[in-house]
Amino acid sequence: MSLRTTLTRSLRASSARQPIAPSTRVLARSFSKPTNSVLSAEDEEKSRAAYEKHRLEVEPKLASVDEHFTFQEPKKWKNDDPGHDVVGPGHGKHTKRTLASLSMDGKVCVVTGAARGLGNMMARTFVESGASSIAIVDLNKADAEAAAKDLADWFVKHGEAEEGEIHAVGYGCDVANEDSVKSTFSQIESEFGGRIDSLVSAAGIVENFVAHEYPTDKVKKLMDVNVMGSWYCALEAAKRMPEGGSIVLVGSMSGSVVNVPQPQTPYNFSKAAVRHMARSLAVEWAKQNIRVNCLSPGYTLTNLTKVILDNNPVLRDEWLHRIPMGRLADPSDLKGTVVLLGSDASKYITGAEIVVDGGYTCL
Ligand SMILES: NC(=O)c1ccc[n+]([C@@H]2O[C@H](COP(=O)([O-])OP(=O)(O)OC[C@H]3O[C@@H](n4cnc5c(N)ncnc54)[C@H](O)[C@@H]3O)[C@@H](O)[C@H]2O)c1
Repeated sequence: MSLRTTLTRSLRASSARQPIAPSTRVLARSFSKPTNSVLSAEDEEKSRAAYEKHRLEVEPKLASVDEHFTFQEPKKWKNDDPGHDVVGPGHGKHTKRTLASLSMDGKVCVVTGAARGLGNMMARTFVESGASSIAIVDLNKADAEAAAKDLADWFVKHGEAEEGEIHAVGYGCDVANEDSVKSTFSQIESEFGGRIDSLVSAAGIVENFVAHEYPTDKVKKLMDVNVMGSWYCALEAAKRMPEGGSIVLVGSMSGSVVNVPQPQTPYNFSKAAVRHMARSLAVEWAKQNIRVNCLSPGYTLTNLTKVILDNNPVLRDEWLHRIPMGRLADPSDLKGTVVLLGSDASKYITGAEIVVDGGYTCL
């Protein structure tokens, strides 16, 4: 079925049944067909069916989490190591010549969405790269505090830190709520001596509905978290960067390309907004030496995506076939980029987007 036919049918169906209510009946036919699919027609159909089955069985909730899955990170990573190796080649404390400006030593770092997932890995990476002051911001206070304690304990146990050396504090904050963000950044300011050097805004959510069935309140919620959340946090961080600093907004390759087969238009346009927010703020704040960049990951293998893909081998193959490097990113693949953008090593980089996607957006 051509995209035009799909859209025409979809529009006809929708106008025939106003108002549009979420239903399972019309969803299966609503994916637009990729023009350059690498799968056979039969496998493509299987991919759509497998994804649809997953999507219908697992009603998405806030964040990219659904209650059917237990998010096991960080405890289930190999060697009790949450995407964060500090031993072995290419990892760990480096004692030879290294570009000093890549160090996060002495910097006060704030990471949102840092109780788990990529935000958590990025917070740990800043500490691995020398930071001793780290604010872990996430929706649930207890989760954020537990993540902060876990981080500090981990570096004492595995990262040669002294007891008390890592000043990690967890904050409960809804980034979609301006008052909550303002109050949290005030607390961070008091706790960490009045200034912030580096912010990573990683809190974000994703939900998948076909456009005509996407409940408006959910679209608004997604925009509130992904776009307004980045906006509020960037503003509050910038106020506390009197001599300049780095703001990294986590976007997605979905901000510049359309991923298939999953329908996620609002997520895509939210990330396009984040990407352009970084460029616009970069220009506005350039004279104040506040750099704003966008880090856009491709498909990254968190425990969440792993569980989804293990249950959907056809979907997994569809994703993998579209990645020139032939694999999903490991969270640790983002470490170099976040340190580059967060540190003084990128002191003349602002308004840039670095896409870490194994080549996905080249096609
Ligand atoms: N995992 C991927 O493949 C991938 C790819 C591209 C971009 N991203 C982006 O990376 C970021 C992190 O993704 P992830 O895979 O680690 O997701 P995740 O769901 O594992 O983690 C997101 C974190 O954000 C927190 N959060 C959600 N809503 C919040 C709110 N209103 N206030 C404060 N915290 C909130 C969650 O509690 C969670 O800890 C997101 O912005 C996501 O869009 C992820």
